[in-house]
Amino acid sequence: CGVIGYIGTNATPEFFYNGLKRLEYRGYDSAGIAMMNSDGVFIQRAEGKLNNLQKKLSKLPENTKIGIGHTRWATHGKPTENNAHPHRSENIILLHNGIIENYKPLKTFLIKKGYEFQSETDTEVAAHLLNYEYKQLSQEKNNFERMKKAIFSLVSQIHGAFAFGIMCTDVSDTLYVVKYGSPVVLGLGKNENYMASGITALVEHTRSIIIMEDKEIAFLKSDKIILTDFSGNEIERKPIQISWSTAMLDKNGYDHYMLKEIHEQPQAVAQTINGRLDLELGKINIDNYGISNINLKEIDRIQIIACGTSFYAGSLARYFIEKFTKIPVEVELASESRYRTSTVNSRTLSIAVSQSGETIDTLQAIKFSKENGAQTLAIVNVPGSTIAHNCHDESLIYAGPEVGVASTKAFSAQVSSLIILGLALAQEQKKLSSEKITECIDELVKVPSLLEKTLTLSSYIEKISKKFYKASSILFIGRGQQWFVAMEGALKLKELSYIHAEGYAAGELKHGPIALIDENLWVVCLAPKDSYYEKTISNIEEIRARGGKILSVGTEGDEDLKSISDEFIGVVECSEIILPFLTAVPMHLLSYWIAVKKGTDVDQPRNLAKSVTVE
Ligand code: G6P
Repeated sequence: CGVIGYIGTNATPEFFYNGLKRLEYRGYDSAGIAMMNSDGVFIQRAEGKLNNLQKKLSKLPENTKIGIGHTRWATHGKPTENNAHPHRSENIILLHNGIIENYKPLKTFLIKKGYEFQSETDTEVAAHLLNYEYKQLSQEKNNFERMKKAIFSLVSQIHGAFAFGIMCTDVSDTLYVVKYGSPVVLGLGKNENYMASGITALVEHTRSIIIMEDKEIAFLKSDKIILTDFSGNEIERKPIQISWSTAMLDKNGYDHYMLKEIHEQPQAVAQTINGRLDLELGKINIDNYGISNINLKEIDRIQIIACGTSFYAGSLARYFIEKFTKIPVEVELASESRYRTSTVNSRTLSIAVSQSGETIDTLQAIKFSKENGAQTLAIVNVPGSTIAHNCHDESLIYAGPEVGVASTKAFSAQVSSLIILGLALAQEQKKLSSEKITECIDELVKVPSLLEKTLTLSSYIEKISKKFYKASSILFIGRGQQWFVAMEGALKLKELSYIHAEGYAAGELKHGPIALIDENLWVVCLAPKDSYYEKTISNIEEIRARGGKILSVGTEGDEDLKSISDEFIGVVECSEIILPFLTAVPMHLLSYWIAVKKGTDVDQPRNLAKSVTVE
């Protein structure tokens, strides 16, 4: 979901609409805006994409001093207009990002009190409950204080995750913002202030940002922001200055954000490794990596926690970290890691890898490891994110804003960051000789230019994608690091083109999935010249013998591989550190071009959200 809120001198319906547009990439299926002025409250909502809401903007007042907007990703109740936010309960207008877990008993209570529900959402419960609490406080004559107290009562009764933007018709000079679990940032302007669920919605208005923390309430007036905890104690927090620019948020001539972001991979990696590799001395600059509280010398075990593409980046990097450090590395799906008994301790480094830094599964999992005594590190792309805030140290990947829902450039930046971390650990624990570290650094710095070269494959991949877009299922196989490139390729294809796809370890094929192979099934085989090359070739022969069709991704000029493939994509010959960066590019481009051919919504695939803030 996305939220935007404004208080100040003048905001138009377009202001809210454009803010929601900036947050569109987060994924949503309905939207709404509420604006309030002396004539009353105006609410417009629409199901589906924002252009449906755009048609209704003329029904909103031309300008206003206060307003809120929302894009909803359905959790409770279908994505209909009625379920879209903001919700109103008499003098209270409220929008919500998150889930109210105990909404059922509260709803029963409110129905008994005579409230009628217009929607199936958990959010409407919050609107009515706040209204109920507000009414109970009729003895309080100051409406600002009365609302404040009512909000304190509301938050003491609800469980789950919530970011609220609230307006009250009796207090038109205040926008109330509540944060628990779901992300909210506040923006400071001149005689105007803002709230949003992400900084991307605010960069065109202000770069001065306050990141709200859990259990905080902000009272936004046009000339000031008062921040308190849930008990009403005032909190002082200095704003941070954001360097992202609006130009970074544009498509820059590409048809889709995803294609632009695929092409930004060389920069994403360059910016991530920049300053962290000391080329002259051939060592890792640990100070520039963002580690200041964790003592790398003491680490004897590593746990990587992540979801989706970030999970594959972690799984791939594991091979390098273990190779460099001989420290055991486990990579865990964040949504599952809390279901096992924690065995971490103070010598465990738990790493949360997350592009957005807001994924709730990853946040909860890293908190769990921290509670159990692990040293925690956040590797995130968005500065000031919630996950970073909850870890001992934060290391940014500097990929720049990623707008396409399917992650691409963040993947390569994450892999490069984790490789640097592996080298940093090896350096601190003296597990690798300085010559070996220098050798790895010399390889890493080649990645951006070799990525650049690999990206020239785009038009060739577009051409061959015609052969695949009608497929109903595609298998992806690889060994070692390439297994996780295969997994990433399969995930991207599913996400973007809705074609069933599975990533498999090439050696595991014969233990089951080989039964799927017939002359209609395409198998994408990752077989560049690495240490496992020969074994992977044997697996490809097994597929061929059963009539399966082969698209291989290998090393340029590998005629042997080409001769056993129906289609072949070649990447330049390079060392094993560089290889997965390069073979991932055809995975991203293949799914992109197949999706374009199929005509699916590339930047916002159905049912997906960029940052998933529900468990
Ligand atoms: C969502 C997105 C995926 C992403 C995953 C993890 O499911 O659709 O593309 O990989 O979240 O996101 P994170 O921001 O934690 O890396």
